[in-house]
Amino acid sequence: MEKKINKLGVIGAGPVGLVTSAGFASLGNEVMCVESNQEILASVSAGRVPIFEPELEDLVTECIQSKKLKFTDQTRDVIDFAEVIFICVGTPEGENGKADLSQIDSVGVDIAKNLNSYKLLVEKSTVPIGTHTRLKNIMALHLKNDVQFDMACVPEFLREGNAINDFFNPDRVILGIESENSRQLLSSIYKDFECPKIWTNPATAELIKYAANGFLAMKISYANMLADICEVTGADVEPLIEGIGQDSRIGKSFINPGVGYGGSCLPKDVSAFIDIFDQHKVNNGLLKEIEYINRRRPEAIITKLKSSITDLRHKKVAIWGLAFKPNTDDVRNAPSLEVVRRLIDEQVSVNCHDPVATDQFKRAFKENIGIRFVDDMYNAAQDCHALIILTEWPEYSSTNLDQLKSKMARPLIIDGRGIFQLDEVHRAGFEYKAFGLTTNKN
Ligand code: UGA
Repeated sequence: MEKKINKLGVIGAGPVGLVTSAGFASLGNEVMCVESNQEILASVSAGRVPIFEPELEDLVTECIQSKKLKFTDQTRDVIDFAEVIFICVGTPEGENGKADLSQIDSVGVDIAKNLNSYKLLVEKSTVPIGTHTRLKNIMALHLKNDVQFDMACVPEFLREGNAINDFFNPDRVILGIESENSRQLLSSIYKDFECPKIWTNPATAELIKYAANGFLAMKISYANMLADICEVTGADVEPLIEGIGQDSRIGKSFINPGVGYGGSCLPKDVSAFIDIFDQHKVNNGLLKEIEYINRRRPEAIITKLKSSITDLRHKKVAIWGLAFKPNTDDVRNAPSLEVVRRLIDEQVSVNCHDPVATDQFKRAFKENIGIRFVDDMYNAAQDCHALIILTEWPEYSSTNLDQLKSKMARPLIIDGRGIFQLDEVHRAGFEYKAFGLTTNKN
């Protein structure tokens, strides 16, 4: 019979750590999460989640109230409490696109110094292939007691804005293990998940995460490449995507062309994946092209704008959408950062609107000279010579086009997410440019 495990440790109260903690706690496990940043610790301990993630705050609060979830700033507490510890610290982009593993390394040192009995350590963070060996070596160097431990890799596939649903309804769980004991512990923890479970070794599990994100990025860059050829040939990208997507081997999801992928995962993971291939001297031309196509998307927005307004100096442009995608306030690697930067360089005054990401954008962009942040989306377009759409927030799709037009100095829309139908915007009297439409040539 499988051993029942219900005391889990989680290191890191970032998005992955919080969702993992609250998710497992709400399934009946007892969870202790360690967070060293005192500000974040104080906030999450009081049930306040410092990121915009639908349903997360309610779930954390419920789990704190039911006493299934506790927080601490001491790794030692988690080691005393749990037999299985999930490592959920950040692996941001470091120098030359490499994954920065400094947080992982210091977790290894910290755990090793405090280890006093057998533990299973589970990597959940996205880490380059071989990180489990690196962690084992670090641990071996710093162990104070003669105790055993196992390493496993169970990569996380949460999407920002949909993380709670993704936690409870994963398409699959990948379990990279090295021992029978790890198999038993993880079987018990994941027994409530009915999706396919793929048991493999840690190196394969580490690679699967990058391979998945690389493939998703490839689908988007492929769609963007198709959009480019449509624009110069009279083809229309929407029926084209529908036409290929109906082939069940291809599928229709995640092949929407536009201003490209952003966020804290796809851009950094493609860069780190490129570096992994370089390190192992394996050809990575395809990955480089995926990145190259994506990097040029914000510039393509400016080119579309300039094809209508040759001299941008002293013009006024509205931006709708600062977040890298809807349902999040995250602006990391958001196309908006690059598009706004280029507009400012062209001496354009920019009015920005986003339902939730304005504060994050202000922090990320730093010098906000020449930018106005406007709460109402229609007022943001007041007296503007163009409107650029960079995030497909639902409220933008249901725009009252007549009201919008009455505000603008020139009825021109550059749509980086393809949210409107050409005939509806034309009927309302707009000049409309989107990716993959031949009308862009007008
Ligand atoms: C991504 C993956 O989708 C998750 O499976 C993974 O767990 C996560 O990274 C991670 O590594 O932790 P996320 O970064 O939240 O999730 O965002 P996505 O939903 O993947 O969107 C990424 C970007 O692609 C967005 O800027 C979105 O606008 C863009 N996108 C998406 C397109 O341009 N076209 C599409 O068809 C789909």
